[in-house]
Amino acid sequence: MNTQDRPRVLNMHKLLEPGPSVLAEAADVVQFPDGKPLTDDNLAEAAQGCAGILSMLMDPITEKVLATPGLRCVSNVAVGYDNVDVAAATRHGVMVTNTPGILDETTADFAFALMMAVARRVVQADHFVRGTHFKGWAIDMMLGVDVNHATLGLIGIGRIGRAVAKRARGFNMRVLYADTSPLSADEEREMGVTRADMHTLLTQSDFVSVHVPLTENTHHLIGAPELAVMKPTAVLVNTSRGPVIDEGALVDALKNHRIFGAGLDVFEREPQVHPGLIAAHNAVLAPHIASASTRTRSEMCAMAARNMVTALRGGRPANLLNPQALSRRR
Ligand code: 8YV
Repeated sequence: MNTQDRPRVLNMHKLLEPGPSVLAEAADVVQFPDGKPLTDDNLAEAAQGCAGILSMLMDPITEKVLATPGLRCVSNVAVGYDNVDVAAATRHGVMVTNTPGILDETTADFAFALMMAVARRVVQADHFVRGTHFKGWAIDMMLGVDVNHATLGLIGIGRIGRAVAKRARGFNMRVLYADTSPLSADEEREMGVTRADMHTLLTQSDFVSVHVPLTENTHHLIGAPELAVMKPTAVLVNTSRGPVIDEGALVDALKNHRIFGAGLDVFEREPQVHPGLIAAHNAVLAPHIASASTRTRSEMCAMAARNMVTALRGGRPANLLNPQALSRRR
């Protein structure tokens, strides 16, 4: 192909190899200016003349962006795609793809890491020792709650929820789950999980871990009423999307020790973090890194780049979210 005929792709952020190499097989890359505010006006302006956009979770891919003439594909480097208006993309004949599957185990590892860190006060203990407060051992020093033999409540039993359930078996945990799509009886037996309604799950669980996508239905799924019925010894973990939890209500619950603690990898207004969470010593906070192992993040970049290349070559990308866009392709 003559280089002049090569489609252009707007790459929003730094990618890991082999993402850039895969992309270079089929497209010329235009880089979104580093530090430029991520408004849809700026994105739409930068996307002019591009057939593809390689986006990430913080990029608002709104109708304004999707209406860009000649745009054929938005490839999101994430399994979550709440930042993309998929319905508008379909209307405009723009394919949208994501990166499911490859991050499940890594994300489940991190959900467990947060559970353990909060329950056994790992971060507080580290600060205690570094702050040279460790002057002598005491029987009641840094008492936490047990993960082993505890009840784990999984809100959402998709791929990541299941990977967390698998780990819980090794800790002899009882696992409850709440999901609008129930597993079959065979799957429940195989995985050793029991379906429960939200109220039962919240009242009986020692650990509640959230694994649902952000949609209109899951926004503030956990708010003051839900926190109020959790055990005072319970730990809440979120590795999904921040707005699934009402952060203000969580701050109140942590401050008043309504629950034991929280492990949060995601926030309502990233990268801003509620000052009440910063002040909460019973919370362990991380900057949206649940999928951040070198291998997983590289594979996510490769998968997103392959989705884009397939779309630009006129094919059907493996992780196409809106097949209806194909019939409206331009
Ligand atoms: C990513 C995630 O790190 O895949 C997702 O939905 O939240 C994380 O795995 C992030 O979205 C990268 O854009």
